Amino acid sequence: MQVCSNNQQIIDLISQWKGKGETVAFVPTMGGLHDGHLSLVSKAAQVADRVVVSIFINPTQFSQNEDFDNYPETLSDDLTLLENYPVDVVFTPTAEQIYPKGLSSDVKAGSLAQGLCGGTRPGHFDGVAQVVYRLFEIVTPTVAIFGQKDYQQLLVIKQMVEAQVLSVKILSGAIIRENDGLAMSTRNQYLTKAQRQLAPELYKQLSVLKQQILSGGDVISSTKHTQEALEKHFKVEYLSVLDANTLKSITDNTAKITILCAVFLGSTRLIDNIIFNQG
Ligand code: PAF
Repeated sequence: MQVCSNNQQIIDLISQWKGKGETVAFVPTMGGLHDGHLSLVSKAAQVADRVVVSIFINPTQFSQNEDFDNYPETLSDDLTLLENYPVDVVFTPTAEQIYPKGLSSDVKAGSLAQGLCGGTRPGHFDGVAQVVYRLFEIVTPTVAIFGQKDYQQLLVIKQMVEAQVLSVKILSGAIIRENDGLAMSTRNQYLTKAQRQLAPELYKQLSVLKQQILSGGDVISSTKHTQEALEKHFKVEYLSVLDANTLKSITDNTAKITILCAVFLGSTRLIDNIIFNQG
């Protein structure tokens, strides 16, 4: 496994691989790696000849009051974990390599960035679209893999790829959960012991809501009940039941439904979602 922090090095390496007809799977990350990321790396190795993982804490996707300055920097632990996986290169660029012309960008997130996390984190998805576009420009992957936990991000990236007419194929990896159901996240380490014990209630309540919808319960009143149940433990930022492809309200024609939720437990923001077929 090579580690490379220079654009030209990685561009040269990838062009050698592509010259031999090899395909490249790419897993972009901000480090703080856990089993969720590692499952994406395993999937990458199944779908392409070469695997590239990037670790870059992207400043443009954090708002001023967010945790950019305190975001966990765990590069040496991350590299140790990745050593056990079939990774060819870990790309660890500096901000100057990613943004040589400064932080402003013409690449913006599309309509799917509106509302949900986009509503409460202004500019967040523009920052994500900007960095992912730039990483794709450098790595030129055949396929790139993102976690389903950041479901709106996944759709925003697919929409950006379509709008920019990029040839990369976007795949997603399932949410990886702790034994008690809590979705794995780099930010879970911010939770106190007591908060960590409460946190699985989020997935538990979303699962109850899914069952109610599947058994024909009224979506609006079931969602209201779930919101009330969540509010006993969390400050709920949003809880929405939407068409999983369009992020619009569900209709009789909706094939796949998504329940999307963001809550605060103390100062830690947790997100989770469930996707299922309309019964
Ligand atoms: O999901 C993440 O870790 C980040 O948003 C991403 C896609 C690596 C862009 O910085």
